[in-house]
Amino acid sequence: MSAAAPLPRHIAIIMDGNGRWARLRRRPRLVGHRAGARAVRACIELCLQRGIPALTLFAFSSENWQRPPEEVRGLMKLFLGVLEREVDDLHARGVRLRFIGERARFEPAIRARMAAAEALTAGNARLQLTVAAGYGGRQDIARAARALAEQVAAGRLRPEQIDEHLLGTQVALADLPPPDLFIRTGGELRISNFLLWQLAYTELWFTPVLWPDVDAALLEQALADYAGRERRYGLTSEQLAQGGTEHAA
Ligand code: FPP
Repeated sequence: MSAAAPLPRHIAIIMDGNGRWARLRRRPRLVGHRAGARAVRACIELCLQRGIPALTLFAFSSENWQRPPEEVRGLMKLFLGVLEREVDDLHARGVRLRFIGERARFEPAIRARMAAAEALTAGNARLQLTVAAGYGGRQDIARAARALAEQVAAGRLRPEQIDEHLLGTQVALADLPPPDLFIRTGGELRISNFLLWQLAYTELWFTPVLWPDVDAALLEQALADYAGRERRYGLTSEQLAQGGTEHAA
């Protein structure tokens, strides 16, 4: 890729395929999730090396609570272990770590670790790393609508003031540029209730590679593909050539 190739400012990833990766090896699904945690490290490393300033990872959806209790317990243990082991290193490397999603169902020890990691890394700016945990895109939009409705009910906002921009200030990640590049591993061609609002103009990239097999070379393929995309935001190519749009900045 040439030095001038545009890099995404924000990558959002659905890390799919851990279970199948484990099944192929006749191992329990949790072995796949553990291998998936190693691929997360590779991905963070690439963002740091390439100067990509924001990365959002879908670690656990609002629907994942319905998985077999043993798998949910194992995933919680894995999340807790990762939080205990990795946060100091992330902090030392300038990573700001945040979580989006419904936290109430996570056990208190995990919630406490999440809050501590956010507090510790709040001043970092090299990489904005957001982990979506207990997250659902529809839930995110509903929560944003409720926040505005509460302001209307309190007399601080008139209904006619509500527009796309205002709703966009209430959804998750509102302080980051929207994702430029969405990656889903594992072969499914779906968004699966991830960042429904934020992905409106995002370039989508799918690969059959299972998440634990992801490495820097595969992520470079996604970056190279992204660099070749023409982002039109509903305009024509000619209009873009004449000066573009506010989004194209
Ligand atoms: C989807 O694969 C993956 C998950 C539900 C869990 C993702 C968790 C990790 C990658 C571990 C660590 C993450 C962090 C951020 C510490 P799947 O189980 O649906 O796979 P399948 O479709 O093959 O069954």
